[in-house]
Amino acid sequence: MSKQNITLIAGAASSFGKVIIPVLFNKGHQLILTHSGREDYQLPEGVAGEVFKLDITDVAAITNVIGGFRSKINNLIYSVGSPIVFKKFEDEKWEDYEKHWQTQVKGLWHITRALIANNHPLKRVIAIGSAVTFTKPPARLGAYTTSKYALLGLIKSLAVELASRQIAVNMISPGATGAGLSKDWPRLMIEAGGSTDTRTVADTIALLLQEESGRTGENFHI
Ligand SMILES: NC(=O)c1ccc[n+]([C@@H]2O[C@H](COP(=O)([O-])OP(=O)(O)OC[C@H]3O[C@@H](n4cnc5c(N)ncnc54)[C@H](OP(=O)(O)O)[C@@H]3O)[C@@H](O)[C@H]2O)c1
Repeated sequence: MSKQNITLIAGAASSFGKVIIPVLFNKGHQLILTHSGREDYQLPEGVAGEVFKLDITDVAAITNVIGGFRSKINNLIYSVGSPIVFKKFEDEKWEDYEKHWQTQVKGLWHITRALIANNHPLKRVIAIGSAVTFTKPPARLGAYTTSKYALLGLIKSLAVELASRQIAVNMISPGATGAGLSKDWPRLMIEAGGSTDTRTVADTIALLLQEESGRTGENFHI
């Protein structure tokens, strides 16, 4: 088990968060969890952790909440996303792109900045990306797909920028799971894109938080 095991999960209530949380808790991580506050949040049964409300598009809230942490964060897991609406290009609005950009890119950028500004001993950042960054993306998914490539750009840039602080920054890119953002997708579409088991994602994150390989700036397709 890593000695650096105080782990912040942004998007604790997400379908991935729900599975990642017990896996990391059972591996001895001390968990700091954030959720949007739009609904009540309950910790999974048998898990302990500190819970904070945090709208990751609200920069002042990020500054306040992260500035108030008493625990010193070693790892950041970023599992956040806006609902997906399938649209033909002619029906898209620029605001659709901005909405996904805010949750995918702006939130991670500000949270990482706030952790560093508050002298947290950050060692690893892992964002949930998407298989759309490896394969031909599904049709009518322009805003989401574009935001995931932007997130990948941020991951690669942060990996370079934060290398001198020995912070590893990586992305894990699953296929559709049939839960969370893809819960209403037709089964055929999920299978066509190469579906992923959520537990595999959680186990891969646990491994990455454990290893000392120094791998950074990578996008793992699982
Ligand atoms: N499901 C899939 O098939 C799949 C496949 C590949 C990648 N992913 C990625 O996995 C990640 C998690 O998505 P999911 O599928 O698990 O969907 P989900 O269950 O709907 O989770 C999305 C999460 O984003 C959070 N969120 C949205 N806007 C927020 C805001 N302004 N402030 C704070 N939190 C906000 C929500 O928080 P609250 O619940 O607290 O409101 C929610 O828990 C996303 O990056 C998604 O792109 C999903």
